[in-house]
Amino acid sequence: MSALLSVQSLVAGYGGVAIIEDINLDVAENEISVIIGPNGAGKSTLLKTIFALTARSEGTISFAGKDISGLKTSQLVPLGISMVPQSRNVFPTLTVDENLDVGTYAAPPKDKEAVRENVLSLFPDLRDKLGQAAGELSGGQRQMVAMGRALMSEPKLLLLDEPTAGLSPAYLEIIFDLLLDIRKHGVTILMVEQNAKQALRIADNGHVLVSGRNFISGSGESLLNDDAVRRSFLGGAAA
Ligand SMILES: Nc1ncnc2c1ncn2[C@@H]1O[C@H](COP(=O)(O)OP(=O)(O)O)[C@@H](O)[C@H]1O
Ligand SMILES: [Mg+2]
Repeated sequence: MSALLSVQSLVAGYGGVAIIEDINLDVAENEISVIIGPNGAGKSTLLKTIFALTARSEGTISFAGKDISGLKTSQLVPLGISMVPQSRNVFPTLTVDENLDVGTYAAPPKDKEAVRENVLSLFPDLRDKLGQAAGELSGGQRQMVAMGRALMSEPKLLLLDEPTAGLSPAYLEIIFDLLLDIRKHGVTILMVEQNAKQALRIADNGHVLVSGRNFISGSGESLLNDDAVRRSFLGGAAA
């Protein structure tokens, strides 16, 4: 099957300075793909470039067989791409319900109520917090709000930047289980994760980004068992 997302020879950065260089990456439909790598490697820049939040200077990005390289973020959402940024990813003074509603603005669903029900069925913890300000929730619950908001546009591809950053190990498990549930709903996932070992365990494929370049790609399992990857990026211990 051809890839849902295909990134070819991508170069991007800030103010004319290239941060990511010659990135090639394919994400197949309905897979979970994980990008790992050291701080400052350009992982967030890569996700933001796919979502047209950072300027691409070279290369192409295709989605569902269509060249989307020149499109704006507001055009990508109706096509079926959604993103949860790395941090400060909820509107703290808006209620949980209002945060979810914001997720419909760029691509209003036909049946908003049905989509909202669908999202709440994934995050039942949010049901009795709908009227509460998102800023009052715990970090894990805020992450659920951010993910829920991103799902309100019914994406085919969900981009997630470090969804477990700052969360307790218990919440990490919960979020990773949720990602598996979200995938079961037919959503393809491309995410950046610092908790590399755990992320590779649930991933179909992984990509190790170093200094803006793709150091190695492979199945989650093959990366977990790769000596060089283990030594440099997974803390050395056996998978
Ligand atoms: N808005 C920005 N303007 C200028 N430089 C940036 C900006 N965002 C990130 N950078 C730089 O780009 C590099 C990669 O950052 P980032 O993509 O956030 O890495 P990662 O997510 O892998 O930690 C870093 O050197 C960072 O300082
Ligand atoms: Mg980052």
